[in-house]
Amino acid sequence: MRVLVLHGPNLNLLGERDPEVYGRQTLEQLNETIAREASKAGVEVTCEQYNGEGQIVDALHAARKTYAGVVLNPGAYAHYSYAIADAIAAIGIPVIEVHLSNVAGREVFRRTSVTAAACRGVVSGLGAASYRLAVSALVEILSA
Ligand code: DQA
Repeated sequence: MRVLVLHGPNLNLLGERDPEVYGRQTLEQLNETIAREASKAGVEVTCEQYNGEGQIVDALHAARKTYAGVVLNPGAYAHYSYAIADAIAAIGIPVIEVHLSNVAGREVFRRTSVTAAACRGVVSGLGAASYRLAVSALVEILSA
């Protein structure tokens, strides 16, 4: 099973950006952790990161031809991007939204996710484990 892990804006700065909120792993280290844990579940992941909204829309469109599902951390776009929400709804493969931090317990603007409504589910606040659990949710959804 092939899954795309899509990281949104500013996640390229993991490790140096707000480490008390997002942890000390760099994006490269996080991707290694995700790939290692996914392979135990028989899942082959490809990890991509984009800062641009349109790039994320394009990556979602392309994913529908290649991947069984997507694990998406939309970053701050989660809170206002109807373009990404529409893309998720349009592609016809399951998308699980993830957040490293617990967005429900942070600033008010982070408590709304317009992209989550288009996703099959959300895992938030568990650091790297958010991604592992999202991959395992996709395995369950896709083998049901
Ligand atoms: C985030 C939470 C967002 O509110 C924030 O803008 C991010 C990261 C997370 O993984 O916790 O960039 O998506």
